[in-house]
Amino acid sequence: MSDNKVILSDGAAGTKLELPVIRGTEGDPTLDIKNLHKETGYFTYDPGFAQTASCSSAITFIDGGKGILRYRGYPIEQLSESSSFLEVAYLLINGELPNADEMQEFDHDITYHTMVHEKLNTFMTGFHYDAHPMAMAAGAIGSMAAFYHDRLDPEDPKQRELAAKRMIAKMPTIAASCYRHHRGWPTAYPKNSLNYTERFLDMMFSVPAEPYEVNPVAAKALDLLFILHADHEQNASTSTVRLVGSTGANPYACIAAGIAALWGPAHGGANESVLNMLDEIGSVKNIPKYVDKAKDRDDPFRLMGFGHRVYRNYDPRASIIRKACHEVLAELNVTDPLLDLAMELEQVALKDEFFVERKLYPNVDFYSGIIYKALGIPTSMFTVMFAIARTVGWVAQWLEQSENPTRIGRPRQVYTGPVARDYIPLDKR
Ligand code: SDX
Repeated sequence: MSDNKVILSDGAAGTKLELPVIRGTEGDPTLDIKNLHKETGYFTYDPGFAQTASCSSAITFIDGGKGILRYRGYPIEQLSESSSFLEVAYLLINGELPNADEMQEFDHDITYHTMVHEKLNTFMTGFHYDAHPMAMAAGAIGSMAAFYHDRLDPEDPKQRELAAKRMIAKMPTIAASCYRHHRGWPTAYPKNSLNYTERFLDMMFSVPAEPYEVNPVAAKALDLLFILHADHEQNASTSTVRLVGSTGANPYACIAAGIAALWGPAHGGANESVLNMLDEIGSVKNIPKYVDKAKDRDDPFRLMGFGHRVYRNYDPRASIIRKACHEVLAELNVTDPLLDLAMELEQVALKDEFFVERKLYPNVDFYSGIIYKALGIPTSMFTVMFAIARTVGWVAQWLEQSENPTRIGRPRQVYTGPVARDYIPLDKR
């Protein structure tokens, strides 16, 4: 092996193959296997793509061993301390922090697109009142291709930019609509005099019968959560968006596919599962029983909000949210026994050999639900909250891929089915 190539030798065939080494600006070196099958007849096998780089990207960097997360080179700790969600959205999409004029223009453009086509509001009324909000959100975003069908061409930079702004702007409006439909409340229209997170809270909780004042503490806490959830390199839902995008599908189909992938309890659905798990555990005295269940390989129960495919250290986002939990609940004068239970569960798990050995730490989903609950957001809406924030990351990654289109994504397989055999007529079976 040298600095820029690795030599593979096939003992049986007595052949050698030089594999180029690709090095990014950060992160582990990667073997370029684009020509592997052509030159050796071999494929590689990597279920879950845990060892496979599917693309090159300049958007987000994660170092799982060191617990590092950076958006366009900026540490998540600095952005969560000093930036805003909309500024982070600009950064993820454009690659640089905006100056004042650029930020004002971006804010105006997003604000200008917050309303949805009135027929989309009608479309929402067709859902069963107690449909899961993620089902409604995936359906509504996918339906945007039926309402904004005039600008769908992913090869046209202007149409890409418009679709990107429409999705970032309309996702909170659609999300609030999902909640209000469930409550049997009339549609709330965006107030463009408010900022991004204030506007969302107003659309969620305002009722026509009386004035609604957005709590600035809640708006600030939500902005922080949105920053932390905005992007996370090639996670399952982002990889889904890229794969769908590689077929040339329209932007709304790509983001709707991302929402569907995020819904799984192993992914973004975990924040809802954490609260349900804490409710099920109920009290500190039950923690040992549930930790034992999580360790029992014959028991499907997992400690939701724990573990991560990439982080083999504390998820930096979980550290920030854990600290914010205490601050937000204190500022909102809310006490939640589930926070105490979560803290105790964390302590027990982090001392347990099973979790220590497997480097299982709390992830972004472990504490986020406690803040959402303190803001009055129902558990069923937690993953929709994740989707609002992640829409920015999905859009940024979709734009990056659309600007430099890749070949259509098409993984191969190890075939384990029957070998060739002849059809047997029914009367002979
Ligand atoms: C997100 O990819 C991203 O970046 C995702 C995300 C993002 O921002 O996009 O960070 C958001 O999805 C966070 C993860 C939220 N999911 C959960 O909290 C669900 C609970 N966690 C697990 O399901 C699991 O940890 C995963 C899915 C997150 C990671 O699964 P991996 O990498 O496939 O880990 P694994 O299954 O290989 O686990 C290794 C071992 C196994 O035990 P052994 O086979 O070695 O005996 O750890 C065990 C697992 O059984 N294990 C757990 C566990 N997570 C892993 N055991 C108990 N509880 C857990 N939570």
